[in-house]
Amino acid sequence: MSILISPSILSADFARLGEEVRAIDAAGADYIHIDVMDGHFVPNITIGPAVVKALRPHTKKTFDVHLMISPVDLFLKDFADAGADIITVHPEAGPHLHRTLQTIKALGKKAGVSLNPATPVSAIAHVMDLVDLVLIMTVNPGFGGQSFIPLMDKVREAKAMIDATGRAIDLEIDGGVNDKTAKDVIAAGANVLVAGSYVFKGGPESYATAIQSLRGE
Ligand code: DX5
Ligand code: ZN
Repeated sequence: MSILISPSILSADFARLGEEVRAIDAAGADYIHIDVMDGHFVPNITIGPAVVKALRPHTKKTFDVHLMISPVDLFLKDFADAGADIITVHPEAGPHLHRTLQTIKALGKKAGVSLNPATPVSAIAHVMDLVDLVLIMTVNPGFGGQSFIPLMDKVREAKAMIDATGRAIDLEIDGGVNDKTAKDVIAAGANVLVAGSYVFKGGPESYATAIQSLRGE
């Protein structure tokens, strides 16, 4: 199975975001991971729909928009209109996860669900028919550059739940992914890796090498 890399622009230079997105596109990124934080659901504030819209002309790659905001329902259309391709929400970010996923699908977008380290895989057992992507957080959401939490049994459990559907559902890992932890999560069944600090730390000259090393190349 081919491994897709979704660099998180949370670790990019925010004063040059368009240029940074073009650089990771050219370096071989498959998706562009955009972390949206509201200072309420998570203890940090980042990017809103206006920035997503401003970045849209800079690449044709998939915008993988990770919403860490609550309540989330009010903003789904804004991010869809801004150019998101995948919209991922947390089950804790609204009162009715099933309805939230229905709304994302009705907007014509792929729907993702993100599980915090303490949130069990069983939280999504009854909505799998609406899900295109399952994101397993391997840090507590809010910041880049945190240490990887090795939730390998959880990754394997999510992979088994995905396989049981018979549908092509992405299994994405987010948090503390580097060339070493990537090997473990790929072995456990992940096919999409988010990486922020690991991809961006060396500057544009090393983006391509960093992305390739995550694929095990
Ligand atoms: C954390 C974000 C991550 C973050 C990952 O809440 O969801 O996407 O950018 O950063 P690294 O790869 O540095 O752990
Ligand atoms: Zn993220």
